[in-house]
Amino acid sequence: MKSIRMKMKIIRTIPTLFLGLLMVLLTSTTPWAIGSAVAATDNNSIKMAHFEASLNDKVSLQHGAKLFVNYCLSCHSAKYMRYNRMAKDLEIPTDLVEKHMMFTTDKIGDPMQTTMPAEYAKQWFGVTPPDLSLVGRLRGPEWLYNYFRTFYLDENSPSGWNNMVYENVAMPHAMHELQGQQRAIFKTVIDADGNETKVLDRFETVTLGKMTVEEYDHAIRDLTNFLVYVGEPAKMSRINYGIWVMMFFALLIMLTYLLKKEYWRDIH
Ligand code: HEC
Repeated sequence: MKSIRMKMKIIRTIPTLFLGLLMVLLTSTTPWAIGSAVAATDNNSIKMAHFEASLNDKVSLQHGAKLFVNYCLSCHSAKYMRYNRMAKDLEIPTDLVEKHMMFTTDKIGDPMQTTMPAEYAKQWFGVTPPDLSLVGRLRGPEWLYNYFRTFYLDENSPSGWNNMVYENVAMPHAMHELQGQQRAIFKTVIDADGNETKVLDRFETVTLGKMTVEEYDHAIRDLTNFLVYVGEPAKMSRINYGIWVMMFFALLIMLTYLLKKEYWRDIH
């Protein structure tokens, strides 16, 4: 009799156990969703190309890192990322990082600082190029991907450049030697109420870049992946933990079910 009561007690604790686990699982997975949901969409007249970041692709992340140090670090910093952390996470040998990726310091433990003095930057561009540590989270991968693809020549802009997702941006197109130069052709659309809006019709190539369109899109994908990684370096390991948690959970469900069957066999 006593043993049956004990068994019943155990059985009654199982739902609590489940609930507890579910809570743990939910709280550990929600940040992934938040991270990608805050994609800012202050774009105006273009249809955003769909893009999802992939943090499992080490080769892509390594290539993105290379592009970042070569084309962006001259103006922007990523001060929450240290070179040795990047080397470890992206599996880049430290001697390669030291030789080819560190232009502002010779200490591998240092954060990624820009080579540009802030006072000049403000003078040259009117605004200081922001630190890019968190831009992957602030803007979201899709925004960034489209931003890097839609720079166009604009003689009315102080830098000579404008951008479709960030209108009147003060940043010149840092990778135009790769993408080439393009001009935006607009058309006027009149809606049902008679309001006129200028929307992008198409881009027209002015000069060719070193890369084909596909190669450039690929490069931008890598760069965006890298910025998303920089925005949340722990995400890579969290996803791995997540998979283990799910596997553990599945195993637990199986065991609990068997246990339930075992206990109820005596009772019925
Ligand atoms: C010549 C200097 C310069 C270079 C090189 C440069 N940027 Fe910029 N960038 C700027 C400036 C200036 C701004 C601020 C633009 C503004 O607010 O109008 C900016 C803004 C940005 C923004 C928008 C930030 C935000 O959310 O407001 C992103 C993203 C960005 N840069 C990424 C990059 C990346 C990636 C590279 C390398 C491929 C790069 N930049 C190279 C000067 C530069």
